[in-house]
Amino acid sequence: MNAQTLITNNESANNAHVQLLFDEPECCGIRVKDLSIFAKKKTILTVDEIRFPKTGVVAIMGPSGSGKSTFLKVMSELMDENLSHKGKIDITCFDATNQKESICSHFAMVWQKPTVFPCSIWDNLKVPLRKRQVARKKWRELMEQALEDVGLMGELDDQWEKQTAQRLSGGQQQRLSIAMGLLKDSNIFLFDEPTSALDPISTDKIEKIIENLGKKKLVLLVTHSLGQAKRVSDYSAMFHNHDDQGALCEFSSSQAFFKSPASPQSREFIMMETGV
Ligand SMILES: Nc1ncnc2c1ncn2[C@@H]1O[C@H](COP(=O)(O)OP(=O)(O)OP(=O)(O)O)[C@@H](O)[C@H]1O
Ligand SMILES: [Mg+2]
Repeated sequence: MNAQTLITNNESANNAHVQLLFDEPECCGIRVKDLSIFAKKKTILTVDEIRFPKTGVVAIMGPSGSGKSTFLKVMSELMDENLSHKGKIDITCFDATNQKESICSHFAMVWQKPTVFPCSIWDNLKVPLRKRQVARKKWRELMEQALEDVGLMGELDDQWEKQTAQRLSGGQQQRLSIAMGLLKDSNIFLFDEPTSALDPISTDKIEKIIENLGKKKLVLLVTHSLGQAKRVSDYSAMFHNHDDQGALCEFSSSQAFFKSPASPQSREFIMMETGV
């Protein structure tokens, strides 16, 4: 999706540095409005408004504690017990024929630590297919395609289906999680620091997958690596800590963001991270 063809509406944003791109429903994948997230009674994050595209990679950056992970959790309904929220989260990433029973089923999550089930690769991959009620005779072909798409097929044994998922390396487990998201047929992939524990080679593999995913799906990528954000993202969102709570302070195309960050908080963050 070309940022230049999208409508920018700075004036209606409460925060001057949050660009309300994706004004039109056919461009907009997720619209978040007047969102507040609470832990018991304490507000931990507020977002006046942000709109995400239907496809593309959005890097979510910001200091520790600014609410990046909590934001992903609240969107996917994976809330901790003592978290609650008010405000609107509209998801339009699916058409009428692809209705799914809960918000959660729109999302595929990849966390900082790999989260595969303690069983075989086959048994991991069958979970989303069974949930979608895909006919069993199609399973193998779909699984092999998903493993191919994440570059795992050539790295596994011939009898890959029997291999124990948790014996794969950390990077391979991350890619298996992505394969499960592909088989879930998710429109939106949420990544929370997926490469923070990985070596540069594994990181590069995941970044290439993320870039490819962004061509067809919406990817929200929380990252502490400005380099990673610059390499793979089309759009950048910056969170900051303000009055002991998190808030969104900037959203724009990554090209604009990295060329000339608009908010003082982004400038300071980039300066501290890069030393320039
Ligand atoms: N379940 C919870 N109960 C109470 N406080 C919480 C809960 N989850 C998150 N918080 C608080 O919300 C704030 C934001 O946390 P969050 O994990 O979203 O930050 P983050 O931006 O992802 O940080 P990091 O970069 O370190 O991962 C923190 O102050 C955290 O302590
Ligand atoms: Mg986090």
